[in-house]
Order: sequence, then structure tokens, then C-alpha cells
Amino acid sequence: MEMRMCGIVGVTGTNQSVSILIEGLERLEYRGYDSAGIYVNDQSGNDYLVKRVGRIVNLKNAITPEISGSTGIGHTRWATHGVPSETNAHPHFSNDERFYLVHNGVIENFKQLKEEYLSGVEFKSDTDTEVIVQLIDRFVVEYNMDTQAAFLKVLRLVSDDSSYAFVLMDRETPDTLFVAKNKSPLLVGVGDGFNLVASDAVAMLKQTHTFMEIQDQEIVVVKPAEILITDFDGNEMKRDTFQVEMDASAADKGTYPFYMLKEVDEQPAVMRKIVQNYLNEDGDPVVDSQLLESIKEADRIYIIGAGTSYHAGLVGAKMFEQLTNIPTEVHISSEFAYEQPIMSKKPFFIFLTQSGETADSREVLVNVKKQGWPSLTITNVPKSTLSREADYTMLLHAGPEIAVASTKAYTAQVAVEAVLAKAIGEYLKHPRAAEFDLKHQLGLVAVGMQALVDSKEKLESVASRYLSKPRNAFYIGRGTDWSVALESALKLKEISYVQAEGFASGELKHGTIALIESQTPVIGIITQDRTAGLTRSNLQEVISRGASVITIVTKHLAQTDDTIVLPDVDPLLTPLLSVVPAQLLAYYTSLGKGLDVDKPRNLAKSVTVQ
Ligand code: F6R
Repeated sequence: MEMRMCGIVGVTGTNQSVSILIEGLERLEYRGYDSAGIYVNDQSGNDYLVKRVGRIVNLKNAITPEISGSTGIGHTRWATHGVPSETNAHPHFSNDERFYLVHNGVIENFKQLKEEYLSGVEFKSDTDTEVIVQLIDRFVVEYNMDTQAAFLKVLRLVSDDSSYAFVLMDRETPDTLFVAKNKSPLLVGVGDGFNLVASDAVAMLKQTHTFMEIQDQEIVVVKPAEILITDFDGNEMKRDTFQVEMDASAADKGTYPFYMLKEVDEQPAVMRKIVQNYLNEDGDPVVDSQLLESIKEADRIYIIGAGTSYHAGLVGAKMFEQLTNIPTEVHISSEFAYEQPIMSKKPFFIFLTQSGETADSREVLVNVKKQGWPSLTITNVPKSTLSREADYTMLLHAGPEIAVASTKAYTAQVAVEAVLAKAIGEYLKHPRAAEFDLKHQLGLVAVGMQALVDSKEKLESVASRYLSKPRNAFYIGRGTDWSVALESALKLKEISYVQAEGFASGELKHGTIALIESQTPVIGIITQDRTAGLTRSNLQEVISRGASVITIVTKHLAQTDDTIVLPDVDPLLTPLLSVVPAQLLAYYTSLGKGLDVDKPRNLAKSVTVQ
């Protein structure tokens, strides 16, 4: 079984199709991939299939001048099992070379389908995708079905637990894209005389700002001047278009060597954007009153997320408890999906997800909806799956995040949680919420972040001195500082491959301190009055065992030999600042090792499989 978080682009109705496909695939590079391919047809009987292992530049170099066409599909494949190879790369095609297919997702019952319907058929690849394209061909050729009917028949045979985004081409109707999705993201881009389809709007922004959603269990037939959506029962579906007013250059690196550095630098602007979008002139939160009413009814808030988003949830939980007095729990989505704790009577669910597509989190949301519990998704991607499926959405307004390691989405999540916590707290007339001058505080945060991102040279030298050689490192802290320690350690490990742990500093002495040896880096985060002294004592314990200690400390708690001093802000918001040096330490450690900062090994940006 292969697993993919692949990228898909399709276009019809323009003789620029090759460059649109290649540029679109480049915009989807963030999703992770290890091979890429395109298929184009010029409507006069010529068609071309090119696939290459490795980076898109290899594919680009393989494109000769005669390769052109007005309709085409492109794909980046990311495999976790099996060797990436040209034969396993997409597009896949039927043995008679009539049908070409790209696919993102996993067909769980592909072996059964192969055994039941395709015995005797010779397969070129090991993929589940090839089974689908051969099956479509069989239904068309042997049962005389038209392509759309055969496609539908195959979609009905695919088991419910499968996930897919498919774009199919048929040599007999070379201007047409046959499109369907289930759980995997895919949307239509609407052009003037041409149309597109892709996994993410960023892949189409150069051509259009107008988009159309595709829902699960629909077939979309896309031609140059027509988009026809039908459900699986053949009913025609009307669909409004929507606009994404994002500048295509928002997804460009500009002069930055890596997206991650650009995204770290954008954080002060993101904080200001959140203020603009969510706080009025008087600093009062502007949040949907129905959402507030729904949370007001709740006896407990459940925050669900994965990875960095889970860490942002840990920080947010403290804000919800302190500003609203509603008990709040935070759960890792892949755990909660299969080990649901005993629930309170009136839960309210908050899903934190940058991409809005994370399969683990969606699994929880599907269950939550089945139980009839209310839900909110906080996401960076409008119209993403979790946004569409939850009762309410709050957007992060962080702009596209392309680097695999999440930075500005984390700080945006924390800031939006602060907005929501204040809004609920005020709605419930909780005194701490009214006192909390969030607008002023986020202004201080933005200025503080700017000072931190401006101190890159210092962070680069700290990274090279302390983190370039060791194989292990620790981030430690208590309370909210521990939550940031977890996120900081994740950043370091995922892009620099240093094995890093985020630890509750008081817990070290209960076992883990045995790992500390001469020059083990231990980074202490100290931003809270109540626990500062305790964490400092814990740092002394590791210093006496030879550790190299780095400190990230809030100004009013700082001492002369602290490494990095953060400006003072409200204690609830210190994570917005303490995480920034940690992001940059990870960045410079990775850079110093000559690694691909934006695309760490084994990882993909959008994790659409469980
Ligand atoms: C780490 C990172 C991941 C994501 C996680 C959830 O830097 O980016 O840990 O946070 O895969 O993704 P979203 O937030 O899209 O649900």
C-alpha cells in the first residue's frame, strides 16, 4: 500500500498547459514528494507522458519543445512505502493507453478490486492507482460504458474508508477532465475559456482568483468553457463560486533562501493582521455571536490537534481556563480518535489545524458530528475540509505557509485562541477577560517579535556553537513554558534531525537527567513569575552534570548571563515570543548542517492519511 499527500494539478483550454502544470506542481512542492509527472494532449492526436524521480527540476529538464497540449494533468507523488520510481510515478494509464489518471489518497480495497475484476491484466506499477485506471478502461471497453458512467461505477466500488482525489483523462474526449474526491482535497479554478483543478488554490492563483468547491461523492466534468457537477445519483448540483483574494506572490520565496525564514519573519505582520480582523477600534473581539452562544452552553472545551497544532492547543487551554473559567482539555487527534475519554455532558470542540486537511483531526470531527456535538475549526485555509465540516470557522489570516515546519501558523493559532478566549470571557462577564487588553498586548507582541527576528545573527551563532554537533538536546520549562518547550523541540528535531525533547523541568530529576552528559544542550524557557525560580534550580542541576545551558527569559525575570531576553508581555501571551528564538535556532541548526530546511526528510506538509 502506498500512502500519499501528493499534489494534483489539471488544466484544460489553454496552449500554456505544460507551463501551468509545472508551475502548479512547484507551488504544491510543500506537500512533499519524491517523483513527479505530467500528461498532456494537444487535441490533434498527439499526447505526451513525462515522469521523473526526484525534484520537479528533473521533470522540467525532461520536457522537450515539442511537448505541448491544451489539456493536461500533473502530479507530485510522495511515497512512504516502496521505492519511488518512474513506473510508480503518476499519471498512470490503462494498457491500451486510452485513460490517464492522477490520484492523491489511498484505495484501501485495491487488492480485492484487482482480484475480482482484473485477473489476467498485466500491471506496470505496484500502485493502487493503476488498478483504478485499468478498471475504468475495462468497464468502458468490455461493458461498453461511457467514460463518466465507468468512472462512477469504479467510484462506487471503492471502499468507504478509502481516500482519493482523482483527475482522469480520456484520449477520446481529450479536452475533458473527469474529477472526483473523497476526503482528499481538490478544488476547481474557474478561468475565462479555460478551467483548472488542483489540490490547493495556491497552485492556480496565477491563472485565477475564482474557485468552486468539490464535495465528496460528486463527479465533476471540467471542459474549457463548462463545469458540470453531478452527485452519484446523477443529479446536477448548482455550486456558487468564491474568490480568494490572495496575491500569487504571497506564495513566493522572494529573496529568502527558504520559506521557513520568510514565514518566521512574517510573524509580526500576522499578529497585526489578526488584530485588524478580530479586534475593533475599542479592542473588543469581533467574533460570531452564535459561536459564542454555543460555547456559552458548554461545560467543557475539548481542543483537538496534531503536532504543532496540538502544541498551540496546550497554550490555548490555559487562556480558555483563565479567561472563561470553562474547564479545557487538549488532545492529540490520532489518540482521541480511537481512545475517547469519558465525556462531559455538554462538550464543545475546537479543532486546530493549519491546513484544515489533517486526516487524524478529521477522523475526530466526523465522530463529533455523529454525536451531535458543536465544533469550531481554527484554520489557515478557507473552505478546507475541516472548515467546511465544522459548525464554525475562524481563519488564521497567516497567508500561505509553505515550509513543512510550521511557524507563523503556530503563533497565529495562539493569537486567535487568545481572541476567542477573550470573546467568550467577556460574553460570560468574566472579570479577567475584561481586564485583558489584548489589542495593546498583541501590539507589544508584534514589536517584540520584530526585535527577535532582527537578532538573527545572535541566534545563528548560538545555534552553531551549541547545537551543530550534539545528537541530543533538551528544551525545558514549566506550565506554559513547557508547552513551548514541546513545540521548540519539535521544530529542532524535524528540520535539523537533532533528537530533541521538550520536558517539564521538574520532571527531569525523576529519570531523564541520566541522559545529561558533558555539553548536552539544555535550553531553559523562563517566562512565568511563579515557576521562574524553580526552573532556574533545575537548570543548575543540569549545569552540575556538564550540560551547556541556553536560556530564553522574559525581561523582568532576566539575569545578566541569560542568553536571549524577551520583551515583557502579558503572561498568557509569552509563548508568542519565546517560540521565535526556538524557531530560529532550529532554522540555523538545519542550515548549518546543509539540510533542506523547507523539506525535511520523511515529512509532508499536509498529512491526509491516518
Ligand atoms: C510541524 C508541523 C506538523 C503539523 C501537523 C498538523 O512543524 O507542521 O506537526 O502541525 O501535521 O497539521 P495541521 O495543523 O495542518 O493539522
